[in-house]
Amino acid sequence: MKASEIRRTFLDFFAEKGHTIVPSSSLVPHGDPTLLFTNAGMVQFKDVFLGRESRSYRRATTSQKCVRAGGKHNDLDSVGRTARHHTFFEMLGNFSFGDYFKKDAIALAWELLTERLKLPRERLWITIYQDDDEAFGLWQGMAGVPAERIVRLGEKDNFWSMGDTGPCGPCSEVHYDRGEEFSCGPNCGIGQCECDRWLEIWNLVFMQYNRDERGQLTPLPRPSIDTGMGLERIASVLQGVNSNYDTDLLRPLLTFVEERTGQRYFSDQRGFPFRVIADHARSCTFLVSDGVLPSNEGRGYVLRRILRRALRLARNLGINRPFIHELVPVIAEIMADAYPEIGARSGHLAQVIRQEEERFLSTLAEASRVAQEMVDKVRATGGTVIPGEDAFQLYDTYGFPLDLTEDLAAENDLTVDKTGFARAMEEQRERARGARQT
Ligand code: SER
Repeated sequence: MKASEIRRTFLDFFAEKGHTIVPSSSLVPHGDPTLLFTNAGMVQFKDVFLGRESRSYRRATTSQKCVRAGGKHNDLDSVGRTARHHTFFEMLGNFSFGDYFKKDAIALAWELLTERLKLPRERLWITIYQDDDEAFGLWQGMAGVPAERIVRLGEKDNFWSMGDTGPCGPCSEVHYDRGEEFSCGPNCGIGQCECDRWLEIWNLVFMQYNRDERGQLTPLPRPSIDTGMGLERIASVLQGVNSNYDTDLLRPLLTFVEERTGQRYFSDQRGFPFRVIADHARSCTFLVSDGVLPSNEGRGYVLRRILRRALRLARNLGINRPFIHELVPVIAEIMADAYPEIGARSGHLAQVIRQEEERFLSTLAEASRVAQEMVDKVRATGGTVIPGEDAFQLYDTYGFPLDLTEDLAAENDLTVDKTGFARAMEEQRERARGARQT
């Protein structure tokens, strides 16, 4: 099933069940200073959960653009290393604002997965919050999941919060077992390892509380439901491939990079730069489309970091020209169904990305040379850590974000002293403050 059909099937299923189909909101959350980017489907409904805003509907369904590249939910470091993490992804969700609760949320999820999408029941595993006996009873009694496939986990895994403050509650996740052959070893298991065998496909959050600045929980006006299913992940399952990158949402981007670099993509470690480029190109395209511009702070700096990282990896594949913007039309074509605005403005988006690439390329060769010298110096002395001041010098002189130095360090089996970097940055701020005052 194509990803566009999966998206449609999900939204239509919930529309049949009385949900209003609501368009994706912007990646830049409106009027919410607590959040860098929209990181889940529930973000646009935050005030509805909190009882501060009412809508004409009490059930909604969306396919929401999300970016997880900063703040509480940050997958940046996992991108390219796993088959399933992204900075940009789409989250399919259904929401109840004080309408149905746990029982119907579980029944609806099970019906969609097993009857509409026809996933094999024996591959589905469930996690629940440790003391949620009600959820246990519903999964076992109503859905018929055997008790040994219902795993109780603690707060870290099964209590979902939007950020440090805001709506939150216990949750229950559906995992797809890719099979024994993906096992990472004797300790492989849900909640025990991070390997690609156990694919979390859907998170059902039983929204019950609001967390305030002091960390205290107060019950929401009405218990509600917030669910999120990663489109790229469910697409990998339904398309019978082992990685999100092999779905029709991302594979054409890898093919494009293959064609342009003349190098072949491998799904193992060697494919890391391809995967990062594909992922980051999508983030950049969608962030620029939602009005974010590269800059040295806040959202703009996240965009700058992501773009520069992708470009440096393209350079490792032998490309020494602005390149990431060339992926924009490919992305526009893949996403045309759901996001026609990307296609309509792809020329402009590509131009913004290209300008930032040119800016960075003007110093990249020199920066790479200096960075390599720093690496060589550490190795020559038998060290394993690039000093924080060196990483800061790269940042300050050449606009080389810390993640890039970390990538370079990892390529050479080294690490970076991040505390030292932060200290050097703080010292420079102090100097700047002092200079302003004199
Ligand atoms: N908000 C929950 C999540 O992001 C469910 O959508 O996982």
